[in-house]
Amino acid sequence: MEGFAGKVAVVTGAGSGIGRALAIELGRSGAKVAISDVNVEGLADTERQLKAIGAEVKADRLNVTEREAFLAYADAVNEHFGKVNQIYNNAGIAYTGDIEVSPFKDIERVMDVDFWGVVNGTKAFLPHLIASGDGHVINVSSVFGLFSSPGQAAYNAAKFAVRGFTEALRQEMVLAGHPVAVTTVHPGGIKTAIARNATVAEGLDRDELAKLFDKRLAHTSPQRAARIILEAVRKKRARVLVGADAKVLDILVRLTGSGYQRLFLTVTGRLIPRS
Ligand SMILES: NC(=O)c1ccc[n+]([C@@H]2O[C@H](COP(=O)([O-])OP(=O)(O)OC[C@H]3O[C@@H](n4cnc5c(N)ncnc54)[C@H](O)[C@@H]3O)[C@@H](O)[C@H]2O)c1
Repeated sequence: MEGFAGKVAVVTGAGSGIGRALAIELGRSGAKVAISDVNVEGLADTERQLKAIGAEVKADRLNVTEREAFLAYADAVNEHFGKVNQIYNNAGIAYTGDIEVSPFKDIERVMDVDFWGVVNGTKAFLPHLIASGDGHVINVSSVFGLFSSPGQAAYNAAKFAVRGFTEALRQEMVLAGHPVAVTTVHPGGIKTAIARNATVAEGLDRDELAKLFDKRLAHTSPQRAARIILEAVRKKRARVLVGADAKVLDILVRLTGSGYQRLFLTVTGRLIPRS
Protein backbone atom coordinates (compact mmCIF):
# COMPACT_ATOMS: atom_id res chain seq x y z
CA MET A 1 0.00 0.00 0.00
CA GLU A 2 1.22 3.50 -0.81
CA GLY A 3 1.97 6.16 1.79
CA PHE A 4 3.80 4.05 4.37
CA ALA A 5 7.34 3.75 2.95
CA GLY A 6 9.95 5.02 5.41
CA LYS A 7 7.42 5.57 8.20
CA VAL A 8 8.11 4.14 11.65
CA ALA A 9 5.04 2.29 12.95
CA VAL A 10 4.48 0.74 16.39
CA VAL A 11 1.98 -2.12 16.79
CA THR A 12 0.96 -3.55 20.18
CA GLY A 13 -0.53 -7.03 20.45
CA ALA A 14 1.33 -7.94 17.24
CA GLY A 15 1.75 -11.61 18.17
CA SER A 16 -1.63 -12.60 16.75
CA GLY A 17 -4.69 -11.61 14.73
CA ILE A 18 -5.23 -8.03 13.63
CA GLY A 19 -1.95 -6.79 15.17
CA ARG A 20 0.10 -9.36 13.28
CA ALA A 21 -1.72 -8.63 10.01
CA LEU A 22 -1.22 -4.88 10.50
CA ALA A 23 2.50 -5.32 11.18
CA ILE A 24 2.99 -7.51 8.09
CA GLU A 25 0.99 -5.21 5.79
CA LEU A 26 2.95 -2.21 7.15
CA GLY A 27 6.24 -4.07 6.57
CA ARG A 28 5.17 -4.98 3.03
CA SER A 29 4.36 -1.32 2.40
CA GLY A 30 7.91 -0.26 3.32
CA ALA A 31 7.33 0.89 6.91
CA LYS A 32 9.81 0.12 9.70
CA VAL A 33 7.90 -1.67 12.44
CA ALA A 34 8.24 -1.92 16.21
CA ILE A 35 6.16 -4.89 17.33
CA SER A 36 5.33 -6.00 20.86
CA ASP A 37 3.15 -8.49 22.74
CA VAL A 38 3.00 -10.41 26.02
CA ASN A 39 2.92 -13.61 23.99
CA VAL A 40 6.59 -13.96 23.04
CA GLU A 41 6.08 -17.04 20.86
CA GLY A 42 3.44 -15.34 18.73
CA LEU A 43 5.62 -12.25 18.60
CA ALA A 44 8.66 -14.25 17.41
CA ASP A 45 6.50 -15.74 14.67
CA THR A 46 5.41 -12.28 13.46
CA GLU A 47 9.06 -11.12 13.62
CA ARG A 48 10.13 -14.10 11.45
CA GLN A 49 7.44 -13.28 8.88
CA LEU A 50 8.50 -9.63 8.78
CA LYS A 51 12.17 -10.52 8.35
CA ALA A 52 11.25 -12.94 5.56
CA ILE A 53 9.75 -10.07 3.55
CA GLY A 54 12.83 -7.93 4.24
CA ALA A 55 11.15 -5.47 6.63
CA GLU A 56 13.13 -3.61 9.27
CA VAL A 57 11.70 -4.77 12.61
CA LYS A 58 12.25 -4.29 16.36
CA ALA A 59 10.47 -6.87 18.53
CA ASP A 60 9.99 -6.56 22.30
CA ARG A 61 7.97 -8.23 25.02
CA LEU A 62 5.65 -5.52 26.37
CA ASN A 63 2.62 -5.71 28.63
CA VAL A 64 0.51 -2.67 27.73
CA THR A 65 -0.79 -2.42 31.31
CA GLU A 66 2.72 -1.74 32.66
CA ARG A 67 2.87 2.04 32.38
CA GLU A 68 6.52 2.61 33.34
CA ALA A 69 7.67 -0.10 30.93
CA PHE A 70 5.54 1.45 28.16
CA LEU A 71 7.07 4.90 28.72
CA ALA A 72 10.60 3.45 28.62
CA TYR A 73 9.66 1.40 25.51
CA ALA A 74 8.47 4.54 23.66
CA ASP A 75 11.82 6.23 24.28
CA ALA A 76 13.70 3.09 23.22
CA VAL A 77 11.75 2.81 19.94
CA ASN A 78 12.33 6.50 19.20
CA GLU A 79 16.05 6.12 19.89
CA HIS A 80 16.30 2.95 17.80
CA PHE A 81 14.63 4.32 14.66
CA GLY A 82 15.34 8.05 15.19
CA LYS A 83 11.61 8.91 15.02
CA VAL A 84 8.12 7.45 15.46
CA ASN A 85 5.24 8.20 13.07
CA GLN A 86 2.42 5.85 14.01
CA ILE A 87 1.19 3.95 17.07
CA TYR A 88 -1.43 1.22 16.62
CA ASN A 89 -2.84 0.59 20.11
CA ASN A 90 -4.24 -2.79 19.19
CA ALA A 91 -3.54 -5.20 22.09
CA GLY A 92 -6.77 -6.37 23.68
CA ILE A 93 -8.60 -9.14 25.47
CA ALA A 94 -12.23 -10.30 25.57
CA TYR A 95 -14.36 -11.39 28.51
CA THR A 96 -17.98 -12.55 28.63
CA GLY A 97 -20.04 -12.44 31.80
CA ASP A 98 -23.12 -10.70 33.23
CA ILE A 99 -22.40 -7.87 35.69
CA GLU A 100 -24.30 -9.68 38.44
CA VAL A 101 -21.91 -12.64 38.42
CA SER A 102 -18.66 -10.97 37.29
CA PRO A 103 -16.03 -10.45 39.99
CA PHE A 104 -14.62 -6.88 40.17
CA LYS A 105 -11.17 -8.20 39.24
CA ASP A 106 -12.40 -9.55 35.88
CA ILE A 107 -14.03 -6.24 34.96
CA GLU A 108 -10.89 -4.38 36.07
CA ARG A 109 -8.62 -6.65 34.03
CA VAL A 110 -10.54 -5.86 30.84
CA MET A 111 -10.38 -2.11 31.59
CA ASP A 112 -6.65 -2.41 32.39
CA VAL A 113 -5.73 -3.99 29.06
CA ASP A 114 -8.37 -2.64 26.67
CA PHE A 115 -8.68 0.92 28.01
CA TRP A 116 -5.64 1.76 30.14
CA GLY A 117 -3.36 -0.04 27.67
CA VAL A 118 -4.59 2.39 25.00
CA VAL A 119 -4.16 5.41 27.30
CA ASN A 120 -0.63 4.27 28.22
CA GLY A 121 0.35 3.81 24.58
CA THR A 122 -1.16 7.10 23.46
CA LYS A 123 0.50 9.15 26.20
CA ALA A 124 3.85 7.37 25.98
CA PHE A 125 4.17 7.96 22.23
CA LEU A 126 2.44 11.33 21.84
CA PRO A 127 5.55 13.51 22.45
CA HIS A 128 7.48 11.48 19.83
CA LEU A 129 4.59 11.61 17.34
CA ILE A 130 4.36 15.40 17.69
CA ALA A 131 8.15 15.72 17.33
CA SER A 132 8.10 13.62 14.13
CA GLY A 133 6.08 16.34 12.36
CA ASP A 134 3.94 13.59 10.81
CA GLY A 135 2.29 11.54 13.56
CA HIS A 136 -0.78 9.30 13.78
CA VAL A 137 -2.51 7.61 16.72
CA ILE A 138 -4.66 4.61 15.75
CA ASN A 139 -6.71 3.21 18.63
CA VAL A 140 -8.61 -0.05 18.27
CA SER A 141 -12.10 0.06 19.76
CA SER A 142 -14.79 -2.33 18.43
CA VAL A 143 -18.38 -2.42 17.24
CA PHE A 144 -18.86 -2.94 20.97
CA GLY A 145 -17.76 0.69 21.28
CA LEU A 146 -20.87 1.63 19.26
CA PHE A 147 -23.56 -0.38 21.06
CA SER A 148 -23.86 -2.53 24.19
CA SER A 149 -24.74 -6.16 24.52
CA PRO A 150 -25.71 -8.37 27.47
CA GLY A 151 -22.70 -10.25 28.86
CA GLN A 152 -20.27 -7.71 27.37
CA ALA A 153 -20.47 -4.91 29.98
CA ALA A 154 -16.74 -4.93 30.81
CA TYR A 155 -15.68 -5.08 27.16
CA ASN A 156 -18.36 -2.51 26.21
CA ALA A 157 -17.15 -0.14 28.94
CA ALA A 158 -13.53 -0.40 27.78
CA LYS A 159 -14.32 -0.03 24.08
CA PHE A 160 -16.74 2.90 24.59
CA ALA A 161 -14.00 4.49 26.71
CA VAL A 162 -11.42 4.02 23.94
CA ARG A 163 -13.81 5.70 21.52
CA GLY A 164 -14.46 8.68 23.84
CA PHE A 165 -10.77 9.11 24.62
CA THR A 166 -9.70 8.88 20.98
CA GLU A 167 -12.39 11.20 19.60
CA ALA A 168 -11.38 13.85 22.17
CA LEU A 169 -7.72 13.39 21.25
CA ARG A 170 -8.43 14.01 17.58
CA GLN A 171 -10.11 17.33 18.36
CA GLU A 172 -7.33 18.33 20.80
CA MET A 173 -4.63 17.71 18.20
CA VAL A 174 -6.46 19.98 15.73
CA LEU A 175 -6.98 22.72 18.34
CA ALA A 176 -3.36 22.57 19.47
CA GLY A 177 -2.16 22.66 15.85
CA HIS A 178 -0.15 19.45 16.38
CA PRO A 179 0.79 17.41 13.30
CA VAL A 180 -0.89 14.25 14.62
CA ALA A 181 -3.83 12.53 12.91
CA VAL A 182 -6.10 10.34 15.04
CA THR A 183 -8.23 7.36 13.97
CA THR A 184 -10.65 5.18 15.97
CA VAL A 185 -11.05 1.64 14.64
CA HIS A 186 -14.33 -0.28 15.05
CA PRO A 187 -13.92 -3.85 13.80
CA GLY A 188 -16.88 -6.18 13.44
CA GLY A 189 -16.23 -9.93 13.73
CA ILE A 190 -12.67 -10.67 12.60
CA LYS A 191 -11.36 -14.24 12.26
CA THR A 192 -8.70 -14.15 15.01
CA ALA A 193 -7.90 -16.05 18.20
CA ILE A 194 -9.69 -13.44 20.35
CA ALA A 195 -12.55 -15.69 21.47
CA ARG A 196 -10.21 -18.63 22.05
CA ASN A 197 -7.94 -16.35 24.15
CA ALA A 198 -10.93 -14.93 26.05
CA THR A 199 -12.05 -15.61 29.61
CA VAL A 200 -15.66 -16.08 30.74
CA ALA A 201 -17.66 -15.83 33.96
CA GLU A 202 -18.19 -18.99 36.01
CA GLY A 203 -20.93 -21.16 34.55
CA LEU A 204 -20.29 -20.18 30.93
CA ASP A 205 -18.64 -22.56 28.46
CA ARG A 206 -15.72 -20.73 26.87
CA ASP A 207 -15.19 -23.33 24.15
CA GLU A 208 -18.85 -23.16 23.09
CA LEU A 209 -18.69 -19.33 22.98
CA ALA A 210 -15.45 -19.47 20.97
CA LYS A 211 -17.04 -21.93 18.51
CA LEU A 212 -20.06 -19.67 18.14
CA PHE A 213 -17.80 -16.68 17.47
CA ASP A 214 -15.60 -18.54 14.98
CA LYS A 215 -18.54 -20.08 13.06
CA ARG A 216 -21.26 -17.42 13.17
CA LEU A 217 -19.81 -14.01 14.05
CA ALA A 218 -16.29 -13.72 12.61
CA HIS A 219 -16.54 -13.04 8.86
CA THR A 220 -13.58 -10.82 7.93
CA SER A 221 -9.99 -12.11 7.68
CA PRO A 222 -7.34 -10.24 9.72
CA GLN A 223 -5.48 -9.50 6.46
CA ARG A 224 -8.53 -7.81 4.97
CA ALA A 225 -9.11 -5.96 8.27
CA ALA A 226 -5.51 -4.69 8.19
CA ARG A 227 -5.88 -3.41 4.62
CA ILE A 228 -9.14 -1.61 5.49
CA ILE A 229 -7.52 -0.03 8.56
CA LEU A 230 -4.39 1.08 6.66
CA GLU A 231 -6.49 2.58 3.86
CA ALA A 232 -8.32 4.67 6.50
CA VAL A 233 -5.00 5.65 8.10
CA ARG A 234 -3.66 6.73 4.73
CA LYS A 235 -6.73 8.96 4.31
CA LYS A 236 -6.48 10.20 7.92
CA ARG A 237 -10.08 9.22 8.61
CA ALA A 238 -11.58 9.98 12.05
CA ARG A 239 -13.01 6.48 12.28
CA VAL A 240 -13.10 3.24 10.37
CA LEU A 241 -15.74 0.52 10.45
CA VAL A 242 -14.16 -2.83 9.57
CA GLY A 243 -16.40 -5.35 7.79
CA ALA A 244 -19.93 -5.30 6.38
CA ASP A 245 -21.31 -6.38 9.78
CA ALA A 246 -19.80 -3.29 11.45
CA LYS A 247 -21.36 -1.03 8.80
CA VAL A 248 -24.83 -2.57 9.14
CA LEU A 249 -24.72 -2.49 12.95
CA ASP A 250 -23.59 1.15 12.94
CA ILE A 251 -26.55 2.14 10.74
CA LEU A 252 -29.00 0.13 12.88
CA VAL A 253 -27.84 1.82 16.06
CA ARG A 254 -28.01 5.27 14.50
CA LEU A 255 -31.50 4.68 13.09
CA THR A 256 -33.01 3.19 16.23
CA GLY A 257 -31.34 5.29 18.96
CA SER A 258 -31.80 3.48 22.26
CA GLY A 259 -34.37 1.25 20.51
CA TYR A 260 -31.51 -1.03 19.35
CA GLN A 261 -31.37 -2.45 22.89
CA ARG A 262 -34.75 -4.15 22.56
CA LEU A 263 -33.97 -5.25 19.02
CA PHE A 264 -30.58 -6.78 19.84
CA LEU A 265 -31.85 -8.39 23.03
CA THR A 266 -33.93 -10.83 21.02
CA VAL A 267 -30.98 -11.77 18.81
CA THR A 268 -28.27 -12.00 21.48
CA GLY A 269 -30.70 -13.70 23.89
CA ARG A 270 -31.12 -16.52 21.37
CA LEU A 271 -27.50 -16.65 20.25
CA ILE A 272 -25.44 -16.33 23.44
CA PRO A 273 -25.77 -18.88 26.26
CA ARG A 274 -26.43 -17.32 29.71
CA SER A 275 -24.60 -18.23 32.89
N1 LIG B 1 -11.44 -10.19 16.47
C1 LIG B 1 -12.51 -9.41 16.51
O1 LIG B 1 -13.61 -9.81 16.06
C2 LIG B 1 -12.42 -8.02 17.09
C3 LIG B 1 -13.55 -7.20 16.96
C4 LIG B 1 -13.51 -5.91 17.48
C5 LIG B 1 -12.34 -5.45 18.10
N2 LIG B 1 -11.27 -6.28 18.21
C6 LIG B 1 -10.08 -5.75 18.87
O2 LIG B 1 -8.95 -5.90 18.04
C7 LIG B 1 -7.77 -5.98 18.83
C8 LIG B 1 -6.94 -7.16 18.40
O3 LIG B 1 -7.66 -8.36 18.70
P1 LIG B 1 -7.53 -9.71 17.86
O4 LIG B 1 -8.88 -10.04 17.39
O5 LIG B 1 -6.42 -9.64 16.89
O6 LIG B 1 -7.22 -10.74 19.05
P2 LIG B 1 -6.01 -11.77 19.29
O7 LIG B 1 -6.33 -12.44 20.59
O8 LIG B 1 -5.81 -12.62 18.09
O9 LIG B 1 -4.74 -10.80 19.46
C9 LIG B 1 -4.61 -9.93 20.54
C10 LIG B 1 -3.14 -9.88 20.94
O10 LIG B 1 -3.03 -8.97 22.06
C11 LIG B 1 -2.10 -9.53 22.98
N3 LIG B 1 -2.31 -9.03 24.34
C12 LIG B 1 -3.31 -9.34 25.21
N4 LIG B 1 -3.12 -8.70 26.37
C13 LIG B 1 -1.97 -7.98 26.25
C14 LIG B 1 -1.25 -7.12 27.11
N5 LIG B 1 -1.66 -6.89 28.38
N6 LIG B 1 -0.13 -6.52 26.65
C15 LIG B 1 0.30 -6.76 25.38
N7 LIG B 1 -0.32 -7.59 24.53
C16 LIG B 1 -1.45 -8.17 24.95
C17 LIG B 1 -2.36 -11.03 22.90
O11 LIG B 1 -1.26 -11.78 23.42
C18 LIG B 1 -2.60 -11.24 21.41
O12 LIG B 1 -1.41 -11.56 20.73
C19 LIG B 1 -8.25 -6.03 20.29
O13 LIG B 1 -8.18 -4.75 20.86
C20 LIG B 1 -9.70 -6.47 20.15
O14 LIG B 1 -10.48 -6.05 21.26
C21 LIG B 1 -11.28 -7.55 17.71
